[in-house]
Amino acid sequence: MSQEDITAMNNPEEKKREYHTDDLIIYWYPKQCSHSGKCWGALPQVFDLDKQPWIEPANATTEEIIKAIDLCPSDALKYRVKEGARIDPVLARGPGSCDYQVTPTEMITIKMVRNGPLLVKGTAKVLDPDGKLIRESNHVVLCACGKSDNKPFCDGSHARK
Ligand code: SF4
Ligand code: FES
Repeated sequence: MSQEDITAMNNPEEKKREYHTDDLIIYWYPKQCSHSGKCWGALPQVFDLDKQPWIEPANATTEEIIKAIDLCPSDALKYRVKEGARIDPVLARGPGSCDYQVTPTEMITIKMVRNGPLLVKGTAKVLDPDGKLIRESNHVVLCACGKSDNKPFCDGSHARK
């Protein structure tokens, strides 16, 4: 895979999808999704892979959606609070927020998922082979099976192929 391919694949602005409510813009980056199921486990009435579109934000409150997106381990789901939204601003500053401030932590934890990815928790910078920063986050999901089309990130292929 060329460096251009790696850079393009890991550019979260690529193929971003948007879903709007009165209070929120929800962003979904398909290539970042590790298929952890945290979103549909928390709010199956909103996140349903069998439906089209698969995100139906009208089926939950803004607060419920924010809490579910904050669980996403891979930054595949993000939200931005719209101007004038009437929600608790503290609630909207979780890890799923586009405005989330990455804070240094003392120790990074890397958890192995059986037959799946590596869950990195703690401030991490992911660099490409030339040392260029491709992701900085408090939670990153790295491919450990070698099948991802979005290396070094898990794209859920471990569960599909
Ligand atoms: S990685 Fe995020 S978007 Fe993908 S299934 Fe898990 S919680 Fe949902
Ligand atoms: S571990 Fe998920 S695609 Fe490799």
